[in-house]
Amino acid sequence: MEFREPGWWQHGVIYQIYPLTFADSNGDGLGDLQGIIRRLDYLNDGNPNSKSSLGVDAIWLSPIYQSPMVDNGYDVSDYYDICPTFGCLDDFKQLVSEAHGRNIKIILDLVVNHTSNQHSWFIESSRSRDNPKEDWYLWLDPAPGGGEPNNWIAYFGGPGWTFNEDRQQYYYHTFNANQPDLNWRHPEVRKAVYDMMRFWLDLGVDGFRLDASSTYSKDELFRDNPIKFEATDRKDYNNQYHLYNKNLPENHYIIQEMRAVLEEYDERVLIGETFIDSRLYDSIIFHGVDNNELHLPLTFEFAFSPWYPGYIQREIEKKELMTPPEAWPAYFFDNHDLPRHLSRWIDCSLCIDSEAIAKAAATLLLTVRGTPILYYGEEIGMVNHEDIPPEMAKDKVVIGNIDGEVIPSRDGTRTPMQWDDSPQAGFSFGQDVQPYLPVNDNFKTLNVAAQSQDQDSIWHFYRQLIQVHRQNEALHRGSWRSLIHYPYEHLAYLRQTNQQTVLVLINFSEEKELTTNDPIPYDDWQVLLSNRRQTGDKLKSPQRLQGFEISILAALD
Ligand code: GLC
Repeated sequence: MEFREPGWWQHGVIYQIYPLTFADSNGDGLGDLQGIIRRLDYLNDGNPNSKSSLGVDAIWLSPIYQSPMVDNGYDVSDYYDICPTFGCLDDFKQLVSEAHGRNIKIILDLVVNHTSNQHSWFIESSRSRDNPKEDWYLWLDPAPGGGEPNNWIAYFGGPGWTFNEDRQQYYYHTFNANQPDLNWRHPEVRKAVYDMMRFWLDLGVDGFRLDASSTYSKDELFRDNPIKFEATDRKDYNNQYHLYNKNLPENHYIIQEMRAVLEEYDERVLIGETFIDSRLYDSIIFHGVDNNELHLPLTFEFAFSPWYPGYIQREIEKKELMTPPEAWPAYFFDNHDLPRHLSRWIDCSLCIDSEAIAKAAATLLLTVRGTPILYYGEEIGMVNHEDIPPEMAKDKVVIGNIDGEVIPSRDGTRTPMQWDDSPQAGFSFGQDVQPYLPVNDNFKTLNVAAQSQDQDSIWHFYRQLIQVHRQNEALHRGSWRSLIHYPYEHLAYLRQTNQQTVLVLINFSEEKELTTNDPIPYDDWQVLLSNRRQTGDKLKSPQRLQGFEISILAALD
């Protein structure tokens, strides 16, 4: 199936930046917008054939709004302003203009399932039961006999309800107690959020990534969630079926309304985190029956896949079969909530060559049918920092929850970008100040500067993959079809449009055999990119692969 008239977000590559740890321009150890501006050429210098720039098409910024930073910005206290940590509104305008000048789009995180408890809306709402915003949040009386109104649990652990003395009522929070959930049934809440979206769209923002976009709507009757069979820990979020506080039918109407706001503008994209436990089914329903909800639903199949070709292949096949014709898939391996994929996959793979895994994973991400989303540092093979001393930890909402570590701290995946081998990996542009989180010890050898000097590095491989992805229409819009079937140790698939056929071969092991169930169509191929062959070389249909070979070939005809 060929997609017609693709939007930029279908053929573009998106790059997620965690602003606190990407680049620090003013030497306070905290990443900021001016730091990002200084690194824009690294992301895309506007030259499509650049050898010194990654060439991404869009950046998604984790939240930069005003925030007390209890959840590192995912707790917004003013949606109309930039957190001073990152700069000011003028810095943001400059970022938009400089990014656009280099063909980089800007996507903002939109955190509207909840606000911070420091937001003026919540301060007003919590003051009394009779103020103009009294029902902007989810308030309930204690259960008969006292205690929490129902059995809903917070994702980070502990009860989902917190008591407020002034109102003598409980409020609900899907996440931390400092992150009260908005009442999305209230028309004024919806209007306030949609107006705020227009404010950023008017400033030239190219789209949003909706945070926790499946949890906006809650059951009107606040019924108890059913408990899973044999679940012993009643305080564990994962031990409930979230029938009444997630994925409600009304949630889709909200996303449709948000999409309608974006449709008032040209070429804006709506991306949504459908939740960390979401899988393929969610990615299908969140496109919307009339393809009027999320352009790109972010579900987590790959984040929880083992590094095995057969498993990955079946996940892709399922996604291919289930994605409706007018919808479009997105793929990512990492984000700010997950351990980095190299750490996950080295752990569970038979292969211990992290560079081989990094390049194979990069190839997969940039050659399947769907929008690739990279997480900063992935392009140089950054791994999780496993030894952050407790006194330097920052993931307060997770570390501070009452039951201890219900989900693991996410600090290890958010450490400073490793730019060079100077103190603190060049995070503060040469100034030796302690960054927000400690730099991973491997930065002396694993950094952007070193990898840009080495033509065989993971970084150059990503850079070339992004160019190959852009230059070959079969890769950014062609159909996808596998040539082999589980349980082989390699993947072999075709990407095809009417004009072009591309064959992707990824060998996950030392084994040199390539056996296809289907014959390889076409006899003659030319190398677009390979770690074992020369770009431009011509060859006959390859029946054998070299160990860890990656080859992307275009059919000659
Ligand atoms: C999303 C974010 C995560 C945040 C949570 C609460 O899952 O990705 O970082 O802690 O929402 O906003």
